[in-house]
Amino acid sequence: MTVYLVGAGPGALDLLTVRALRLIERADVVVHDRLVGEDILALVPATAAVYDVGKVPGGPDNQDAINELLVRHGRTGRAVVRLKGGDPFVFGRGGEELAVLGAAGVACEVVPGITSAFAAPLAAGIPVTHRGAACGVVVVSARGCARDPELSRLVAAGLTLVILMGVARRAAIARELIEGGLDPSTPVAVVERASTPEQRVSRATIEELGALRVDSPAIIVIGEVAALDLAGGGLEP
Ligand SMILES: C[S@@+](CC[C@H](N)C(=O)[O-])C[C@H]1O[C@@H](n2cnc3c(N)ncnc32)[C@H](O)[C@@H]1O
Repeated sequence: MTVYLVGAGPGALDLLTVRALRLIERADVVVHDRLVGEDILALVPATAAVYDVGKVPGGPDNQDAINELLVRHGRTGRAVVRLKGGDPFVFGRGGEELAVLGAAGVACEVVPGITSAFAAPLAAGIPVTHRGAACGVVVVSARGCARDPELSRLVAAGLTLVILMGVARRAAIARELIEGGLDPSTPVAVVERASTPEQRVSRATIEELGALRVDSPAIIVIGEVAALDLAGGGLEP
C-alpha cells in the first residue's frame, strides 16, 4: 500500500477531485490539516484512524512529528491519506513529506488539489489573468518573498499579485509595496474562507489594505483585476 499526498481543494466539498474522493472513501488512516473542512472529513470511513495535525499559524512547527507519523503508518502497508487544504504542493510542504517518505522507502503518490491561490479570487469573481488587465500572475507567501521590492515593479508592469498567509502582515505588505513604488490607489481584494458558506470579499486600495477588518484564512489579490467582478458582470469581452 501507499501514502497518498492528496489536495482537498479550497474548502467546498464539491471542489474535491474525484480521485481524492475515492482515496478518502477507502482510507485506513487519514492525516489531515487544519483547513480541511468537516464535510470532507465526514467522508472518511468510521473504521479509519484519523489524525488532526493542523498547525496553528505562528504556533510550533510539528513537521518532524508529522513526517514520523506518515513513515510509521506508511510502513504498515495500510492505505494512508495525507490530506491537505488546496494543493499539497502550493505552500503545503508536500515536497518535504514526499522526500521523507521516499528516503524511508515508503511508496507515495500525489493527487493535486484546486489551490486557494486561484479558487479564492475566482470565487470573488476575479479573473487573475483577464486579458487587457493582467499579463500574468505571481503567487507568493507573506512569509516568503512578499518583502521583495521587485514585486511592486511586477504589479506596476501588469502582473496580478496573489498573497497567501498575508492577513497578519497586511499593513506591512501594503507599506512595503507602496515604498517599492506601487501606486497607492492600486485595487486590492481580500477573499476570506473562499468557497465555504462563510466566504467574505472585501475590496479596497492598497493604501487601505492595512485598515481592512479581515481574518485568516484569506487570499489577498493585488492589481487591476482586483477591482473586477465576473459574477457581477462589467467585464469587456
Ligand atoms: C499553508 S497555506 C496552504 C495553501 C494550500 N496548499 C492551497 O493550495 O490553497 C494556507 C493559506 O492558504 C490560504 N487559503 C487556504 N484556503 C483558503 C480559503 N478557503 N479561502 C481563502 N484563503 C485560503 C490562506 O492564505 C491560508 O493562510
